Amino acid sequence: MTPMLSRRTFLQGSAFLGGAFALGAGLAARAGAAPEAQVLTAQLAQARIAADGITPVMTYGLGDAPHAGVPPVLRMRKGEAYAARLVNRLDEPTTVHWHGLRIGNAMDGVPEMTQPYVYPGDHFDYVFTPPDAGTFWYHPHCNTLTQMGHGLTGVIVVENPADPIFDAEFVLNLRDWRLGAEGKFIDPFKPRDAARGGTYGTVRTANWQQEPGYDAPAGGLVRVRIAATDVTRIYTIGVEGAEAKVVALDGNPVDHPFLLDRLDIGPGQRVDLVMRMPGSEGARATLGNFRGSKPWTIASLRATGPSLKRDLGDVAPLPANPIARADLSTAQRIPLELTATAEHKAVPSVCGSLGYTFWALNKVPWPGDTPDPIAPIEELKLGKSYVLEIANRTPHAHPIHLHGLSFRILSSNKRSFLPPPTDTILLLPDEQAEVALVADNLGDWVIHCHIIEHQKTGMTGYFRII
Ligand code: C2O
Ligand code: CU
Repeated sequence: MTPMLSRRTFLQGSAFLGGAFALGAGLAARAGAAPEAQVLTAQLAQARIAADGITPVMTYGLGDAPHAGVPPVLRMRKGEAYAARLVNRLDEPTTVHWHGLRIGNAMDGVPEMTQPYVYPGDHFDYVFTPPDAGTFWYHPHCNTLTQMGHGLTGVIVVENPADPIFDAEFVLNLRDWRLGAEGKFIDPFKPRDAARGGTYGTVRTANWQQEPGYDAPAGGLVRVRIAATDVTRIYTIGVEGAEAKVVALDGNPVDHPFLLDRLDIGPGQRVDLVMRMPGSEGARATLGNFRGSKPWTIASLRATGPSLKRDLGDVAPLPANPIARADLSTAQRIPLELTATAEHKAVPSVCGSLGYTFWALNKVPWPGDTPDPIAPIEELKLGKSYVLEIANRTPHAHPIHLHGLSFRILSSNKRSFLPPPTDTILLLPDEQAEVALVADNLGDWVIHCHIIEHQKTGMTGYFRII
């Protein structure tokens, strides 16, 4: 492909803020060089989300200074150590989970299972080396319906120096807010909806703005990294006014970039597009949600300047990530059934309970973030291959997310296109899919639906890799 323009400044906007602090010798040694930690402060703030008022949000800021906008895009580099100190200035415990990053279990951010709660005023040091490049995201793993619902969802970009260079890049963090009058939060969910597809927000945003518009070079090739970080909404994305190719799904490059028509992405999922901007100055390309009967605009890009006259045909596949291939001849098969369950009271927990159970994995409803977790779904042996036979026995879609590992979709009764390896599969109603993985990361790895009401009302379990 033709060489693309000047490279955008690497790590721009992610200057490593905050004072250096001594990393534990063991951690520093494991990570290679000790990187300087980015201070990530979880905090309360006031932000304008709806037109008619100020919303008391939760957000992350870099360093000590108060921050009231969308959580920063965290930029890391594939194969290079990264460190962050989570400082909790909320009024409740929290943690950070690095969604999609295949890192050590102790850094995974699941309270009770992989780390202690980080109480208000406390901090926790994360250090890890992301093995894969791509678009990922971060969020708490405690009282998530409230904490994520109130703003704590941010995008991670793991750069690969071998990535092609585009004329511009945009990161879009898609999410809704459940707001009522004057921008105040209303009940985070309705039990009736939690037992179905989940409760939707009332205000839809990208980067915390309603229908934001951005400028991009006319006729240019623009990389758009989209992360669906909403607690409920499944999007059917499409672009009007321009053509775009899908180059990566859930962080992993597709083998052959293909033209975007309509693409479903569930909570937790990401898509990387390369869009060819219209050639005439002022023309707009619109990213929309086409799910349901009334399509709406997510964000738009306006062409500026003389046309760069790029060609979408020049878009080559991105370099693949080093995800091991399962050995299907020896793989053990594990059934994983998604079902509704008899409704009963949930166990209270430090990280919040919705007070109900509606859902189960293999007939076991997860009792909550409990200090005495139920048994793993299965114990896996380090280095061995497995095939999960996932069966969605419900009439609802469930984006099922596995921590710490990526898997390949081998087959499905509902889809013809099999995406690249992923950490989150959007199981369609009544879908049965086989997914394969190599158990190459030690520890306890949570698997759950990323519709947070489903996760928090039973659709959670974990695998133990020993
Ligand atoms: Cu994106 Cu268990 O999380
Ligand atoms: Cu679900």
